[in-house]
Amino acid sequence: MSSTSENIYTTFDRILKRQDKERLLNQKGLVVWMTGLSGSGKTTIAVALEQVLAEKGILTQVLDGDNIRSGINNNLGFSEDDRKENIRRISEVSKLFVNCGVVTLNCFVSPTKDIRQQAKDILGEDMVEVFINTPFEECEKRDVKGLYAKARAGEIKNFTGLDAPFEAPENPFLDISTVGRSVDECVKQIYDAVMPLIKY
Ligand code: ADX
Repeated sequence: MSSTSENIYTTFDRILKRQDKERLLNQKGLVVWMTGLSGSGKTTIAVALEQVLAEKGILTQVLDGDNIRSGINNNLGFSEDDRKENIRRISEVSKLFVNCGVVTLNCFVSPTKDIRQQAKDILGEDMVEVFINTPFEECEKRDVKGLYAKARAGEIKNFTGLDAPFEAPENPFLDISTVGRSVDECVKQIYDAVMPLIKY
């Protein structure tokens, strides 16, 4: 698993610095890490937030589970180990973006405290945790992708919230309740809190 470090010659000292890139973009890099159940609204909110930020001249990159798992992570499933590796790679990818001054909007179930701690260990202060707080019953009622019905029918194993755990964050940077609120309201709440961190 781990590679030998003796034949690795990094060039971190010679590449353009993060600060230079942030000045170029006139913004600060940040990872807005959204955690929540499948179908809780993470990607819907991120996509809408991206539009609002673009209008303000902020360059973003939405990273989401379904997209990442169809590309770089298409060899990973939903066992605990695979989810952990999923989040490790995503954290490293996010780090590359953030070091380029880009704001990444991460939409991953990232279901356990342990898994999210791994992301925090990799990203440090560059990451803010946003809980997209939609209860299981509500996600099941919405069932946008039809996955809850399939999981109930026993067609999906290790489904988050059913036969795999979801641990809500205890002290998130933001707790976004979605029930009875519009996407725009949720977006505004995130926008107001993160904009001061992104402003150059
Ligand atoms: S994570 O747990 O490793 O963070 P990730 O966010 O990448 O998950 O992927 C979650 C998405 O994969 C869900 O939104 C859903 O569309 C799909 N999915 C397929 N199987 C499962 C499963 N067993 N549990 C949760 N999500 C699943």
